[in-house]
Amino acid sequence: MDDRSLEAYLAATPRSRELSERAAAVMPGGDTRSVTYHEPYPSFVASASGCRLVTEDGEELLDFLNNYTQSVLGHAPPAVVEAVTDRFARGNGLGAPTEEAVELAERLVGRVPSLEQVRFGNSGTEATMNAIRGAMAYTGNETVLKVHGGYHGTHDTVEIAVESAGREHRGIPADVEQRVRTTPFNDSEALKTAFAEAGDDLACFILEPVLGVGGAIPAETEFLRTARDLTRNHDVPLVFDEVMTFRLGYGGAQERYGVTPDMTALGKCIGGGLPVGAFGGRADIMSVFDPERGDVAHSGTFNANPATMAGGVATLDALDRAAIERLNDLGDQLRSGVREAVAGHERSIQVTGEGSMFQLHVTDGPVTDARSGNPGRDAFGDLFMALRNRGIFIAPRGMGNLSTPMSEREVDGFLDALDASLAFLA
Ligand SMILES: Cc1ncc(COP(=O)(O)O)c(C=O)c1O
Repeated sequence: MDDRSLEAYLAATPRSRELSERAAAVMPGGDTRSVTYHEPYPSFVASASGCRLVTEDGEELLDFLNNYTQSVLGHAPPAVVEAVTDRFARGNGLGAPTEEAVELAERLVGRVPSLEQVRFGNSGTEATMNAIRGAMAYTGNETVLKVHGGYHGTHDTVEIAVESAGREHRGIPADVEQRVRTTPFNDSEALKTAFAEAGDDLACFILEPVLGVGGAIPAETEFLRTARDLTRNHDVPLVFDEVMTFRLGYGGAQERYGVTPDMTALGKCIGGGLPVGAFGGRADIMSVFDPERGDVAHSGTFNANPATMAGGVATLDALDRAAIERLNDLGDQLRSGVREAVAGHERSIQVTGEGSMFQLHVTDGPVTDARSGNPGRDAFGDLFMALRNRGIFIAPRGMGNLSTPMSEREVDGFLDALDASLAFLA
């Protein structure tokens, strides 16, 4: 990391440093989430409103991370705060179903083309885990096909072949690897070969319509169509992981691309800022979760947590077609602004993304998959800290996204900070 940036950061964040030291005494690495860590220590955030964070050191940061796409409406949107607090005040954690879950399920089924039925959990991890489990119960097969570099959360099966510098599969039983096949992103020929070799043994093919953690790289429509045809021909459920990409279209990225999978995993923004996951799809597949059939148990103390469901309903009501279209247009403006801003500088920066999701990559070459983007957070470290010191908060590895309180003003602020950061690092 650039020494001048490091010095400036240390000088500006004494309180965060103190909190990090306290945290490290009681939590390994001083945190409980691998991705939020960066050197020398992350800033602690005291509060947030709209698209701004206020750190424990009193700095104000423009939030271009939005909890990795979750805070699509920004922070503490009044309608969501009201819905959540109202529901919580009337009782939460009731051990019985509540109407809010029906309301959220109806909205999701009404919007997302693949959803005939849906169930709720508490994370995107649970969503993909249960979607895969349902697909295994439906097909009777146990081998999962995933994209190399696809990220679907932290359960064993999907931790295989996540592109990340130096990652090994320690802590995951060795036989899990034998039940996961991988295929390169956006490579239809390789996908055809994978299905020719193992199509009849697959439980499902799971992929993100836009690689999120893998670099904000959009799928080619032709790749998704090929996936649709192959899975249909082999009666293998096609699972879209829309935990991040739901925000790209009223009915998620599947509506934007016009390709309807058999099952969909959701999370992040659909819970109004509270922990959430959802998975759903064709009614015949989802019926394996029907307690009267008893094929697959799906329990969880906090499944369909009432306050989460109320927050989700308020969020989806605000996230209408116009709001999504506006955000996606703003994303287009940001990407073309980045291309212009970086053109005058020595350092080679690429920008990828789709709609309101984007990523900056420090590399010359074209970025086509998780391997060709930023190789881990190190490549981006200098630029991350330079931007951070100029009031812009994005992921330590360069990923960003937009929230509805943002306008051209914030996008311009981002572009100015990028220009200044690249000049500083020259
Ligand atoms: C595409 C995708 N799937 C699944 C997950 C896991 O979600 P969670 O972190 O809520 O478990 C993530 C999280 O970033 C994700 O980006």
